[in-house]
Amino acid sequence: MDGGAVGGLSAQALIPGYHCAFVRSESVLSALAPTPEVVAPVGNIARQVGRRRTFAIISHPDAGKTTLTEKLLLFGGAIQMAGTVKARKSGRHATSDWLEVEKQRGISVASSVMQFGYGDCVINLLDTPGHQDFSEDTYRVLTAVDAAVMVVDAAKGVEEQTIKLLEVCRLRNTPIITFINKMDREVRDPLEVLDEIEAVLKIHCAPVTWPIGMGKRFIGVYHLLKDEVQRFTPGEERADGDVEILHGEEIEGLRASCPQEFEQMRNECELVQGAGASFHLDDFLKGKQTPVFFGSGINNFGVREILQALIDWAPPPQPREAIGANGESRSVVPTEPNFTGFVFKIQANMDPNHRDRIAFFRVCSGQYTPGMKVRHRRTGKEMKVANAVVFMANERSRMEEAYAGDIIGIHNHGQLQIGDVLSEGEMLTYKGIPYFAPDLFSRARLRDPLKSKQLNKGLRELGEEGAIQVFAPLVDSILLLGAVGQLQFEVVEHRLKAEYGVDALFERAGIHTARWVTCDDAAHLAEFARAQQQRLARDVDGNLVYLADNRVNLALAMERWPRVKFHDTREHGQTLSS
Ligand code: G4P
Repeated sequence: MDGGAVGGLSAQALIPGYHCAFVRSESVLSALAPTPEVVAPVGNIARQVGRRRTFAIISHPDAGKTTLTEKLLLFGGAIQMAGTVKARKSGRHATSDWLEVEKQRGISVASSVMQFGYGDCVINLLDTPGHQDFSEDTYRVLTAVDAAVMVVDAAKGVEEQTIKLLEVCRLRNTPIITFINKMDREVRDPLEVLDEIEAVLKIHCAPVTWPIGMGKRFIGVYHLLKDEVQRFTPGEERADGDVEILHGEEIEGLRASCPQEFEQMRNECELVQGAGASFHLDDFLKGKQTPVFFGSGINNFGVREILQALIDWAPPPQPREAIGANGESRSVVPTEPNFTGFVFKIQANMDPNHRDRIAFFRVCSGQYTPGMKVRHRRTGKEMKVANAVVFMANERSRMEEAYAGDIIGIHNHGQLQIGDVLSEGEMLTYKGIPYFAPDLFSRARLRDPLKSKQLNKGLRELGEEGAIQVFAPLVDSILLLGAVGQLQFEVVEHRLKAEYGVDALFERAGIHTARWVTCDDAAHLAEFARAQQQRLARDVDGNLVYLADNRVNLALAMERWPRVKFHDTREHGQTLSS
């Protein structure tokens, strides 16, 4: 039986010893039984890749993402005390002081990465910014993960930001594990929440645990695959996540102590099982079905199940589509010996005392070793990567070795941009890290005209970092800024002042949208550029961009210049051919 085809390869084919530790369901077990190739001796890279799980938590603000992140780190032994991540979120912790805006707003505008061990696995947890203004940044983070945990507030159900994030996950068929949180509160009917997930998010739900009661009468959950009840006890003190487990007769005993909740659970489970909503690993790995767990993050309840599901079911690093040096498409398998990977995020000036710039780099194949020499695809130059760092809850330390799935931080002085590929040997480009056409445009005006050099430097650097899109008009020396959300302008305004000493005022520019333009015929494109120069600009990579005042204006240009192609996205690190 196929063990879950992802990207054309079965999970077992890629993962030595990929197994299911706790599921007792026979059908699931047979689906996961190791194939003969898996038990054959494998090299170190394959073994290491099989241990990696790289995922992000996605949710609408306030559903409990920060709480769950913290509890996962706590259970993984990466932090000793609850409150560390929360403090960081609300700005009380020193590591996030680099971005004052984050403190002031109490929202996380910068993604970070945390690595920790759990069982025999190495888990990489990528934080996604919760605010909708940062959807581009979130998108890029989601290109670097192999799975996602979706947190849903049981009282609120599917919320706006969850819908958007799920759409992004769907683009790559990312497998999703669902955690329905806050069962210790008076919440909505669980069947109704599941129906909503299926209807709105268009993903099948396979409940793995089912709640018994809610709020003050939250008794625990029934585990449909293990046929056991996990008793809920409020409180955060059990950091090991140990819960009381009931089997057989003990479960029946609940019928007497809490008949109403017990009967309701039995009826709902029958309904769910009757509807054929059982868990299938194949469908989960294809992003078609999500295993659903109920719990309460703040009470450490259900958290260990999520970690276990990540280990047992979430895929290790998968093959990625790339374009070779001669333009041919190929799939890069994570166990290939040559080191490759891509930059999905740049964070500048993390520490105001050392103007450092860190590129967050997802390893896609091979092995990183300190001091290794790699080829930088965009410039063609050789680069020595000496001091890559690994991120752990509150600190970063020198990375000694990394494999596919790991995120390494590479210090640089602006050589690395989002989408850049580093590789050993073969020159590759990874697909699927797009820039989106912005919806909001501003011009930065200086309060002190003598600072124009610093302003341009700041804007270019923040543009390269991906904090904002920067366009240089062909016929004007004032740079234009494009964003997908208003908050981006505020962050840039603040950072210009704090990091570059530039006091700038942002004015709305009368632009409706932008389109990257290309044409197979270079002479025709030059003719278009001459005729339309008032409306054209270049982006950070020198690509030609058409800036439309309004929808009609764009439609007319497209009609008048049918041979010119207008694109609403472009790939990072890619210079569009003319
Ligand atoms: P976010 O990152 O998704 O924005 O959510 P966060 O974890 O910050 O949680 C939002 C609020 O929900 C917090 O309350 C948090 O304590 C609460 N919460 C999280 N999980 C649970 C749960 O399982 N049950 C209950 N009852 N509440 C939960 P807050 O009042 O905004 O913050 P705080 O004062 O508790 O820090």
